[in-house]
Amino acid sequence: MSNTNELHCADRRAPLPAAGLLCVLLGACAGTQAPPTVQAAPAPPMKPAVTLQDLMLSMVDVAADGVWGAAGSTIDIKGVHELTPTNDAEWARVRSHAVVLVESMNVLMIENRKVAAKEFPSDPQGDALSSAEIQTRIDSQRGTFDGFAAGLRDVALQMLEAVDRRDTGKMIDLGGTIDDVCEACHKTFWYPPMPGRTAAN
Ligand code: HEC
Repeated sequence: MSNTNELHCADRRAPLPAAGLLCVLLGACAGTQAPPTVQAAPAPPMKPAVTLQDLMLSMVDVAADGVWGAAGSTIDIKGVHELTPTNDAEWARVRSHAVVLVESMNVLMIENRKVAAKEFPSDPQGDALSSAEIQTRIDSQRGTFDGFAAGLRDVALQMLEAVDRRDTGKMIDLGGTIDDVCEACHKTFWYPPMPGRTAAN
């Protein structure tokens, strides 16, 4: 190591990206060495912290119920009642459910999430797969899983916009679409195949 330039070039092989950058900035190695090797991208900082079951129960389902329950109509013995948030505080609550629903779909796309903390068997009536079977399906069709999550994220974003416009008619429409996407993903990854059952029905 006779001079500083050589020292920097040698440093380029060090795992720190800054060493390679320094070499390029100084122009020290141009023409005399092989081009700098591309450093492996650092691991993404996100990693799954809770199970898929926890996410469904505590985030996705709560947020969806919060938006579904906000607009629509109920029928009882006295007739049909239109349901809509009635003041700013209620609108703010619906909005925060919509926000959580949108972003929970990005969270769903974080890979290597366990299905459940405790393995569960398939449903004895044949209505639901075991946690191991669900895991295998997700692992083998990751792109499809992420596709449903991205689709629901986009519809939930439209829901958020409708909430901001206080457009209850649109909120009811989008509520139906959201339900369809939840079920499409569940049919693909949670329920066993049944005659006549497809992701679309
Ligand atoms: C990208 C796929 C996907 C989407 C989208 C999705 N889910 Fe799920 N959900 C699953 C899978 C897989 C399971 C089965 C594993 C489990 O029990 O968590 C599940 C399970 C559930 C459960 C049962 C949790 C339990 O074990 O008791 C609820 C409730 C639920 N989802 C609600 C929803 C609602 C509501 C939506 C839509 C707003 C939704 N999910 C959207 C994949 C999805």
